[in-house]
Amino acid sequence: MTDTFTLDTDIALIGCGRLGSALVEGWLATPGFKADRLKIIEQYETSATDQAKAAGATINPSPEQMKGVGILVLAIKPAVWREALQPFADVIPEDAVVASVMAGVRLDDIRKAVGGRPVARLMPTTAVAQRQGVAGLYSPDQKARDVATALFEGMADVVPLEAEDLLDPATGVAGSAPAFVYAFIQALARAGEAEGLKPDAAVRLARGALRSAAAGVSGGQSLEDAIERIASKGGTTRAGLDALEVDGGAARAATAAVSAAVAKARDLSR
Ligand SMILES: NC(=O)c1ccc[n+]([C@@H]2O[C@H](COP(=O)([O-])OP(=O)(O)OC[C@H]3O[C@@H](n4cnc5c(N)ncnc54)[C@H](OP(=O)(O)O)[C@@H]3O)[C@@H](O)[C@H]2O)c1
Repeated sequence: MTDTFTLDTDIALIGCGRLGSALVEGWLATPGFKADRLKIIEQYETSATDQAKAAGATINPSPEQMKGVGILVLAIKPAVWREALQPFADVIPEDAVVASVMAGVRLDDIRKAVGGRPVARLMPTTAVAQRQGVAGLYSPDQKARDVATALFEGMADVVPLEAEDLLDPATGVAGSAPAFVYAFIQALARAGEAEGLKPDAAVRLARGALRSAAAGVSGGQSLEDAIERIASKGGTTRAGLDALEVDGGAARAATAAVSAAVAKARDLSR
């Protein structure tokens, strides 16, 4: 991740729903981002479009205003992407890069729809809004990879992938995984209740554990080091970890969750 925004071009975003709004919030919060270079295409005004407009962005630009766009971001639902993109496919410059965050729309289909312009696919998490996101990135084109990385790296850890199909496991391990972690934290709270904690106290303690766990790896420490720092030999944490590993329980649950998410992603992209 970087501290400042370095990309020096106009950016157009089609779709400002849940993910599009998170992207806008993340860009606006990144030092060096020039809101007056952002153009948003969206059918309805949202709090993110209002915020962007107040910072200097253009909402629903004219074709003329799209002529300096160096990167076009597609954040619409897969079902409507062709009709949403069509009015802009020919007005952006020949050398513009297209970055898609849509699940399940193949890179080759997008490239054909934009006259062969370089395309990158990314799978970001909505924590881009807090500049705490992570995004798997795939593109066979070096320029598309570079431009898309520069666009996202102020708000996400951009993880390059070697093949387009790896975006599905990336979605399972990152995009969906915060919900898996919340489910585990919820189970921890219930286990605390079973040991006598009041429900409120159990939830507060478990949420605090989640915050503490995130803070413990925020400096890029390895997961192994983070575990070893807490689990002293013969102590309570080691006893809990040993119990988690009985019959591969934790690994089995994680494998089941990721495999199911990957299978669903493949199913949806058919
Ligand atoms: N949400 C996530 O966590 C997440 C994570 C990774 C990837 N994605 C991908 O991101 C994409 C968007 O997902 P989302 O959750 O943000 O969906 P969403 O909330 O439904 O956002 C899509 C937005 O695009 C707008 N839109 C529809 N047609 C349009 C058009 N012709 N021109 C301009 N805007 C148009 C929609 O407006 P209306 O509501 O008026 O139709 C809506 O505001 C999807 O392809 C999804 O696979 C989402």
